[in-house]
Amino acid sequence: MSGYHTGNKVIDETKQGEALVIDGVGSRKLYIESYGCQMNFADSEVVASILSESGYSTTRNMDEADLVLLNTCSIRDKAEQTVRKRLKAFHQVKNQRPNLKIGVLGCMAERVKDKLLDEEKLVDLVVGPDAYRDLPNLLEEVDSGRKAVNVILSKEETYADVNPVRLGLNKVSAFVSITRGCDNMCTFCVVPFTRGRERSRNPQTILEECQQLWENGYREITLLGQNVDSYLWYGGGLKKDFDKASDLAKASAVHFADLLHMVASALPEMRIRFSTSNPQDMTDDVLHAIAKHPNICNYIHLPVQSGSSRILHDMNRGHTREEYIGLIDRIRNIIPDCAISHDMITGFPGETEEDHQDTLSLMDYVRYQFGYMFKYSERPNTFAARKFEDNVPDEIKTRRLTEIIEKQNAHSLERNRERIGLVEEVLIEGNSKRSDQHWFGRTSQNTVVVFAKTGDESPGDLVHVRIDDCTSATLLGTLQN
Ligand code: 5AD
Ligand code: SF4
Repeated sequence: MSGYHTGNKVIDETKQGEALVIDGVGSRKLYIESYGCQMNFADSEVVASILSESGYSTTRNMDEADLVLLNTCSIRDKAEQTVRKRLKAFHQVKNQRPNLKIGVLGCMAERVKDKLLDEEKLVDLVVGPDAYRDLPNLLEEVDSGRKAVNVILSKEETYADVNPVRLGLNKVSAFVSITRGCDNMCTFCVVPFTRGRERSRNPQTILEECQQLWENGYREITLLGQNVDSYLWYGGGLKKDFDKASDLAKASAVHFADLLHMVASALPEMRIRFSTSNPQDMTDDVLHAIAKHPNICNYIHLPVQSGSSRILHDMNRGHTREEYIGLIDRIRNIIPDCAISHDMITGFPGETEEDHQDTLSLMDYVRYQFGYMFKYSERPNTFAARKFEDNVPDEIKTRRLTEIIEKQNAHSLERNRERIGLVEEVLIEGNSKRSDQHWFGRTSQNTVVVFAKTGDESPGDLVHVRIDDCTSATLLGTLQN
């Protein structure tokens, strides 16, 4: 998962850290960096909101900060190493500025807990993903000279009533959290341990947040969760207890497809995206909702992790290769022009050359628009770490990763070439990175489009662009009148 889908790149966590800022009037300054998935970026906005009530405003300039927070990721070892390096650098700064407070939030706070405080003495504050409401109290502890930690996971917390302070530079597109945690227990994944049980947010509060975003000029929202398809609201209970709910609660329950209908109908001109989908939980109702509402984007991020049924079984993904292919076929039937992207892991324990070939052939079958590809990284205490040996040598993981990246690049280029000559509807997000004479936006299929400005359009506009050329990551076009 990345801060934003940036095309068919291997995610390199070292590039994910991003200072998120608004200029505010609080007397104390918060500098916050977010690493890892979109959920962390969204959570940082919740944190900024909670701390604004304690008089903190955010700053992009670390030099004027009173408080530095790192919202961290544990998904792969490399992600944690990046954070450790960053914490050491901040620790050096603290030697010069002893009043500076440093805190770690997010998944690494949850996984490493008070070791960061005690053994490594790197930080003043450790706060897990469900404890952000406690930040004002914890900061008081820190102010009075004590170290503070809260890593208690919750079965209820969804921050439903917190109105996130929008920190992104782009005022067109925003994230809206709809679920927290994950119950899937994929054997390689640390997330169920760092983010706890899956819970869904009250749909009314989701709708209100989306409406407010529309009123504030936002034109695209991404409904976020570790596994959005398993969204289920029946008055606040956990999904696992749904069977025990009353008949009335069951009859009025809101599933993910219902939520999509609700938001898409209430805001018919807002573009709606969602992430991340899980093949095991994605129902045809969701596909029909996408097909029905023109404002729900034709794009599904559908991680598969491997093309081999044997590996999928050991990963506890809950589906076979054939079942995944069945879902792909249904997507193609129900939403003919739907882009699909993936996450893939190479070198899971026991992965043979034949399993790897199965991954490559699955990619050939689907011809994904783009994908996020990773080498397996053993995570402490996961089922895979406890039961399987991390036995694929690193050079083989790397070679397989290179092969799938090359295949993905070829598919991305083919997919993009198919768009040449078409006129695409593009939501303008801002200036192109390379030139302020060009706009940057996305198609419904989530592909980046760059085109020359003509002067009359601005970010947030939906415009028509004829596609003239492409690379594997970008479409290049001309604005149509
Ligand atoms: N090693 C490598 N990649 C992982 N992912 C999750 N856990 C691991 C791990 N232990 C990848 C998966 C997931 C994405 C967010 O990160 O592909 O979909
Ligand atoms: Fe991890 Fe699997 Fe949950 Fe995704 S669905 S967060 S990979 S356990």
